[in-house]
This record gives sequence, C-alpha cells and structure tokens, in this order.
Amino acid sequence: MNSTTLILKMSERNFEENITKAAHILKQGGTVAFPTETVYGLGADALNPASVRKIFKAKGRPADNPLIVHIASMDTLDEIAKNIPPIAVELMDIFWPGPLTFVLKRKNTVPDVTTGGLDTVAVRMPDNPVALALIREAGMPLAAPSANTSGKPSPTTAGHVMSDLVGRIDAVIDGGVVKVGVESTVLDVTSGIPVILRPGSISVETLRKHVGEVLVGYTDMEIEEGELVRSPGMKYTHYSPDTRVVLVEGESAAVLAKISELIDNYSQKDMCVGLLITEETAEHVYADKMYSLGRRDEPEDAAHNLFAGLRYLDSKDADIDGRDADVDVDIIIVDGSVKQDGVGAAVFNRLRKAANELVKV
Ligand code: TXA
Ligand code: MG
Repeated sequence: MNSTTLILKMSERNFEENITKAAHILKQGGTVAFPTETVYGLGADALNPASVRKIFKAKGRPADNPLIVHIASMDTLDEIAKNIPPIAVELMDIFWPGPLTFVLKRKNTVPDVTTGGLDTVAVRMPDNPVALALIREAGMPLAAPSANTSGKPSPTTAGHVMSDLVGRIDAVIDGGVVKVGVESTVLDVTSGIPVILRPGSISVETLRKHVGEVLVGYTDMEIEEGELVRSPGMKYTHYSPDTRVVLVEGESAAVLAKISELIDNYSQKDMCVGLLITEETAEHVYADKMYSLGRRDEPEDAAHNLFAGLRYLDSKDADIDGRDADVDVDIIIVDGSVKQDGVGAAVFNRLRKAANELVKV
C-alpha cells in the first residue's frame, strides 16, 4: 500500500503549512495520523467508504468495530446525527471540545463501513488545536480510531504511531506527547438513561454530577482473577504488548509484598523482569527494566504514562521516546496500587484488558 509515510513535525513556524499538506492528503482520500488530547488518531474522510476502508486495513481492525467520527463544529454534527437528545446537548455544552464521545442515531450520510453497519454513530469534538485545525482545513468529519495496530497499546506519541504503522499510512502529524493518555469516555445516549460503553478521562462520577443517573455498560474483565490466558490468540485482548503482562491489584502494602515475591520467583527462573510501577512501590523494589506510573494517588499520571510504559517495557529498540529500551524482558509486572476513582477507572479498565494474568491481593 503506502510505502512511505510522510512525517509532519509541528512547530509554530510551519503549523499552517503542515495542516494544509495533511488536509490535502485527506481530501485525496488518504490517511493521516494526528494528535488529539487523548491519544493519536488515524484519520480519514468519515463520509468516504474507500478512505475509511484504508483505516481498517492499516490497523488490521475487525470490520465490525465501529469508528469515532471527529468534528470541529456543531453544524457538522447535524449532518451526521439525528434525534440528538437534550441531555447530550447539555453535556456537549459542558465537555466539548473534549474527551467525551456520544453514540447517537446516525444519518444516512455516514457510510456503513464507518459505523460497522450500526444505525448509530459515535461522535466527538477533540480538544487539540492540531486536530481541530486539520478537521476544519480538510472540510470533512474525520473517522479516527486510535492510531495503533489493532490490539496494541494506543499511541501517545508520533513515534508510537510510526513504530506500528510506518509504510501503512500516508502521513503522521507529530504534535508531541498527548495530554491525557487514555481514550475518550464513550457514552450511549440513544435510549433514555445514558450508558457508559467505555470509561475515559471524564468519569462516571463527573457525568452523574451534571446529569444525574448514568449507567455503567462495560466490563473490564476479559479474564477472571487468577486466570491465565494460555494462548493469546484464544482470547481477544486489547492494549496488549507482545510480552506477558501480570497485573497485581490491591492495597499498597500487599501489592508491594506480592511484586517482591514475583520478582524473586521470576529471577530464580532466570527471567528478565520489567516493572510498570508507582513511585512509592519503586522505592522498595528493583528490576531489569522499570517505567514509572507516577504517584499512587494521581491516577491522571498513571493515565498519562500507562501506554508509553507498556510500549517501552515491551520494546527492544535502542531508542523509544528518547530512552534506551534495548533490554528484552520476559515478563511485565504492573503495580495496581493506583487509586481507582476518577480517571483511575479508565486506567484499570485498560490494565485489566492488557493483562494476561490478574493477581488480586
Ligand atoms: O479518545 C479517543 O476516543 C480516540 C481518539 C483518537 O479520539 N479514539 C479511539 O477510537 O479510541 P477507537 O476506535 O480506538 O475506539 C472507539 C471505541 C470502540 O470501543 C468502538 O467499539 C466504540 O468506540 N464505538 C464506535 N462507534 C460506536 C457505536 N456506533 N456504538 C457503540 N460503540 C461505538
Ligand atoms: Mg483503539
């Protein structure tokens, strides 16, 4: 398909020029990865089936998994969605542009390939100047899933996008590290009480404060406690590095004790261990390769560091995000002593899905 991927590195000086180039590619029906406030997205014209198909092909994404359509104005919303309930309008007023995606009834302008054949469409207005400028200049809503290979951790830098999709997409706009680090909250508002389909940085508590009753319609569990997924191909996992991931969840002292024990056990078997770990736990343990999740009581930091950490620990590259990553670990242990409320719910949702094994202590 695309043998070269154009890298457009943003600076104040070339902002307009890069947006023009990227928008041109989109108008020609091509694919452009771009930063949003949550993670990098892989964009294409949401209303052009041939363009949207290129996204699925580049990512290796199953055709029945629908895409989020990104818009920069409320006028565009009316072109793609109908029967928008007052509660959605209220929430859009508060949170847009921002990391809240609405599932709405779709208009026929949106092709089946974008919505995976559903009669609904997911829409959001991203809070990132590059994303908004790109959508405006291209003059079209952009279908954009996270710009990773399907099943891999979402990209929070342009380098992550390149390491998954180089040669498979037309361009990437390098706008630096994203702000949030986990994907948007997905809220279904098509049937009465809003239902959260995917937790994100806008928490259920926050949504309830504004609109009252909100239901939780997702489950974190692809695996049960203590269960080992024997063949990764047997069960479809998300956000997963190639290396095995063990998540240790619980109260901080117990997590520390368990992680120390696991490091000892694996080391005795001559396994090389990677740790995705809170600052507090890191004061007491050591492993071959470590990446910080930040402080336990700051789930925002964990959200920001989570995907970059999984990619770093999984990588054998000499250089990833400016760090030397060439130690090849056999196992990644994740410190699940981070606070679980607010964006912490989204952090644990991603961690549980990434994990091959869950140890609750
Ligand atoms: O923060 C984000 O949402 C990022 C950035 C790039 O905007 N995008 C993102 O897209 O995470 P993706 O494709 O990786 O995840 C989209 C999620 C999937 O879980 C998909 O199943 C769900 O939204 N979704 C999309 N359309 C839907 C629909 N019509 N009904 C229900 N779920 C839908
Ligand atoms: Mg994704």
